[in-house]
Amino acid sequence: MRHVQSSCLDNRTNMNNQTSIDPTILRSIAEQAATQAGHLIKDKWSQPRQISSKGFRDIVTDADIASQSLITGLIRERFPDHGFLTEEDDPDLPMTGPIIWIIDPVDGTTNYSRQIPSFCVSIGAARLPNNEPWTEAEVLAGAIYDPMRDELFSAARGQGSTLNHQTIHVSQTPGLETAAVGFDWSREYDRRLAMAEVIGRIAQDVHTLRATGSAALALAWVAAGRFDLYFNFRIGPWDMAAAKVIIVEAGGQVSSLLGERWDVEDSGCIASNGRLNTSFKRLTQLDELVAVLSDV
Ligand code: IPD
Ligand code: CA
Ligand code: CA
Repeated sequence: MRHVQSSCLDNRTNMNNQTSIDPTILRSIAEQAATQAGHLIKDKWSQPRQISSKGFRDIVTDADIASQSLITGLIRERFPDHGFLTEEDDPDLPMTGPIIWIIDPVDGTTNYSRQIPSFCVSIGAARLPNNEPWTEAEVLAGAIYDPMRDELFSAARGQGSTLNHQTIHVSQTPGLETAAVGFDWSREYDRRLAMAEVIGRIAQDVHTLRATGSAALALAWVAAGRFDLYFNFRIGPWDMAAAKVIIVEAGGQVSSLLGERWDVEDSGCIASNGRLNTSFKRLTQLDELVAVLSDV
């Protein structure tokens, strides 16, 4: 995974302008690109795949690269002046523009590489108002496509969220005792220990817990009311960008591990139906666990 370097993000500051772009159009392009890329990775699903290592417990397949290239090609054809923040490195992509497309071409690559059918394509479109740090970027539209279930989640700011073009809402679950909670394991030792500790602290107090292996898909499921809460100690901006607008537009809440506004430099997240973030933090004594982690 390419880690987000502050310097790289800082470079975007002041380079963007206030061009007014209709979020509906961004959503439509995100939907088209996510669906086409999803079909591509599904077609490759049954073929032999090339898997290579990008780092510790981090792999990439030929399908990730092909999917990203399809998505960026389609977006550049439509918006030649837009910028990109992609999971897979591509030095040919511009980093700045009035809109930054934040792309995970296959979220859940480990699942994909083992033919575990839970993965998705995630595409968010973010705007950075003039003179504001990159962390203030606001996601205007996003799409998450699950090709194995043919499910397309999408949203545009102020226009609600949909699943296959039908409106969706987060769950009404009032408390953790009846909650289905999703989470995913991070790659690092200290975060896995912290995750195991959190699970131990809530295991008896929630309805159930599920690790999905695809953060963006699990977050889309929060928007659709399938999960009541999801948390992760390390996600990338491409895991969260589309999901953030989809959850918020579905009535939910996304925060950092500290309970503050989530921004693209945060490494962890808590997302819920809006009723559970505070009780989850209290029950797990999360602040105490987060305090010993670096880079949260
Ligand atoms: C990963 C998956 C995983 C999550 C990791 C992500 P990738 O994305 O979403 O569930 O726990 O934090 O990096 O590498 O499969 O795109
Ligand atoms: Ca990912
Ligand atoms: Ca990925």
